[in-house]
Amino acid sequence: MSSHYYDVVVIGSGAAGLSLALRLAERMRVAVLSKNALRESNTLYAQGGISAVLDAEDSIESHIQDTLQAGAGLCRPQTVRMVVTEARECIEWLLERGVAFTEIEAENGTSHLHLTREGGHTHRRVVHAADATGLAIETSLEEHARSHPGIDLYEYHNAVDLITTHKLGMGGRRVLGVYALDTETQEVITLAARTVVLATGGASKAYLYTSNPDIATGDGIAIAWRAGASVANMEFIQFHPTCLYHPEARSFLISEAVRGEGGYLLLPDGTRFMERFDPRLELAPRDIVARAIDHEMKRLGIDCVYLDISHRPAPFIREHFPTIHARCLSLNIDMTLQPIPVVPAAHYTCGGVMTDLRGRTDVAGLYAIGETACTGLHGANRMASNSLLECLVFAKQAAADIVQALPDTPMPPVLPTWDASQVADSDEEVVVSHNWDEIRRFMWDYVGIVRTDKRLQRALRRVELLQQEIAEYYWNFRVTSDLLELRNLAIVSELIIRSALSRKESRGLHYTLDYPQADDGKPATETILKRQLSGGFILN
Ligand code: FAD
Ligand code: SIN
Repeated sequence: MSSHYYDVVVIGSGAAGLSLALRLAERMRVAVLSKNALRESNTLYAQGGISAVLDAEDSIESHIQDTLQAGAGLCRPQTVRMVVTEARECIEWLLERGVAFTEIEAENGTSHLHLTREGGHTHRRVVHAADATGLAIETSLEEHARSHPGIDLYEYHNAVDLITTHKLGMGGRRVLGVYALDTETQEVITLAARTVVLATGGASKAYLYTSNPDIATGDGIAIAWRAGASVANMEFIQFHPTCLYHPEARSFLISEAVRGEGGYLLLPDGTRFMERFDPRLELAPRDIVARAIDHEMKRLGIDCVYLDISHRPAPFIREHFPTIHARCLSLNIDMTLQPIPVVPAAHYTCGGVMTDLRGRTDVAGLYAIGETACTGLHGANRMASNSLLECLVFAKQAAADIVQALPDTPMPPVLPTWDASQVADSDEEVVVSHNWDEIRRFMWDYVGIVRTDKRLQRALRRVELLQQEIAEYYWNFRVTSDLLELRNLAIVSELIIRSALSRKESRGLHYTLDYPQADDGKPATETILKRQLSGGFILN
């Protein structure tokens, strides 16, 4: 018997999940699942900010054009227009909830939001809280969610799989609920829901080097895939050009805003190199900057390049980048005096669960929002600071749709509980940890910034083999968080590889030596994968 019943179960507690839950909770019973502590999310670590047209010199049309240009012909224009237009309201919504964005005082004594710049943006339009924008947002949303009587929080609950009419042999494809592993008691609980929202973030942990925290294992994408939802544009993995390179610094980002405020990229001999790659220099879109760094590192056989902002006044650097300054200083790097060693690392999943303008997937009752979704905003390359914006706008859109649809959304039936009677405790945890490492290494080596068909084929053979091993393990042993994440990482990696293999051109973040140019002979198309009932792939 299902022990918990909700109108809406939201899986994920980052900017997308919490803002959606808060928008819904006045009107219905909402549960929020988080596989770690509530605040542990990509959102928490966001640095640069949120893009929004707030400056009198800027315009909606300009933000749209910049987004379309970064997206390299693959953005859905309707999505871009909708998101950019909704930005102001979303910033106001956050301000009403007490998010303390950085302000600047004008000459007449009034203050307004400070706007910084990042790559691809032709205007200053990035609202931020110094260099810890995510911390400010997540802290505030967490506070509101914890005190809201309409929201039940399930921290340390790892969503395993969706329960659908199809899985229960009832015909059709509607979501009915979700199984979740309580990682403290190791019990799997059943939550029945009229609507389920995936807000589980991205999949950058599929790569050995990443700016993302450990939660980013692509769970929502894999869960949706297993439930029969279409997944789009998975070949477009964004590598952030500048992560701190230091043996003691794991996954620490050096914000693009450092370049936005005048930072230069340097080779070890102190020369700038971006003029050889793009006239926009350090503020070219990320795909171009990351590829340029990768090219120079391989050409010169060097371990890193350098980011230097020491020519700006020290008080300015300390005020604008307090978090980055403190972290670097803790490693004996004083960014007010010296350049910071940096390397590219996997940062953002542009593809994901395919949705419409209201966050609906093609499984009835299932929504996907935030980084786990592919809404059409980012196309082949996301522009900086458009992600938090997408989280907030799609939370608003999905909330409106869920409220409107609820009267006609059926109640779920009584659901079967998780059956663990046939499985044993694992006797070889090393299989799980070894496979984790193996995936992340071959994804980095064969499916990284520069690809070839041969390397992709190599990666495909390995991931297919691993999938067999993982499946055997999954059906015979009691599930653990590590095993669930490994299973999801393997699926997501396969989706990335298959999508990359199917694109016979270079476009945006997908760059292959076999087809180094964009195929401009025909209209650009999204890569849409759908799972066959028999388990195979359909490529639209
Ligand atoms: P997340 O914030 O990642 O939240 C995902 C949630 O899902 C977490 O609560 C997690 O525990 C939960 N979850 C995952 N799987 C499961 C499961 N199986 N069961 C239960 N819960 C689960 N974007 C910008 O626009 N501006 C920036 O300045 C910026 N800076 C960034 C800096 C860094 C270092 C990083 C890593 C990213 C940055 N990004 C930035 C990207 C942006 O932060 C993310 O895309 C965005 O926060 C994603 O929000 P989300 O709500 O979709 O997912
Ligand atoms: C950064 O601060 O460089 C990250 C911004 C983003 O990913 O949008």
